[in-house]
Amino acid sequence: MDADIYTQVKASIKRRLQIDLENYKAEQMKRRLDSWLARTHTATWNDYFNLLSIDSTELERFRDYLTINVTEFLRDPNRWATLKENVLPYLLQHSNGVHHRTGGLRLWSAGCSVGAEAYTLAMMMAESAPSHKYSLLATDLDRGALLKAKSGGPYTPEDVRNLDAKQRRKYLTPAPPYFVGEELQKHIRFEEHDLLADRFEDGFDLIVCRNVVIYFTAEAKETLYAKFSAALRPGGVLFLGGTEIISGSAKYGFQNFGVSFYRKVQ
Ligand SMILES: C[S@@+](CC[C@H](N)C(=O)[O-])C[C@H]1O[C@@H](n2cnc3c(N)ncnc32)[C@H](O)[C@@H]1O
Repeated sequence: MDADIYTQVKASIKRRLQIDLENYKAEQMKRRLDSWLARTHTATWNDYFNLLSIDSTELERFRDYLTINVTEFLRDPNRWATLKENVLPYLLQHSNGVHHRTGGLRLWSAGCSVGAEAYTLAMMMAESAPSHKYSLLATDLDRGALLKAKSGGPYTPEDVRNLDAKQRRKYLTPAPPYFVGEELQKHIRFEEHDLLADRFEDGFDLIVCRNVVIYFTAEAKETLYAKFSAALRPGGVLFLGGTEIISGSAKYGFQNFGVSFYRKVQ
């Protein structure tokens, strides 16, 4: 796709879907857009945007594709084990005596897709600190994904493959398609939110933002990490995806806290 067409396509996407591709790496995004157009069997982007204006299902499909909302429960089990064994106990211990507006730990799943990550976090809390109060904000810019997240499903057997038999019994409906039960749902507030444009809440003990920034430009990532740092309380922790590393984390006030974890300096 040449530069002129990309400029036009970006403008149309911004107008119709309110997604600003300016903050996404251009080469990857162009490749993704080219292969999408080829798959939809429309000849030109003009034809495709005409189709979008009359076909709302296609519009949602395009939104899903652009935002790439692949996810699963307990994605990357080793990292979640570290969260459970090291990070949550640290946060629970350090939040004792700290006054929180909402009472208990404040957690945020940023870029939660269809909710698997937020529900995984709620399971960890139920298992690590069953009587501890907490609140969990889960946000994404993808409305369709959030709708599924709020409904607690439906999830496929592949979505839940990393959960053990006990966890499935305890938290999910007995047979596929799986739904998550009310005891996890009641802790979570799902909201539409654009990490690149919207205001952040603050006072978080833990922010989980995994596999979201892969297509963001270096500048967009810098802004985001600075905003995450401001949104954490001192001693709060940022949990990133398996391959995501913050270079020069000290400039945001972060210390390494094990692979994939950064702690805001006290
Ligand atoms: C690959 S999924 C990752 C889901 C989950 N965090 C995980 O690791 O399994 C990426 C999610 O980031 C969301 N996303 C992309 N850009 C975003 C933005 N600017 N603001 C909020 N969410 C965004 C997408 O809608 C998608 O649901």
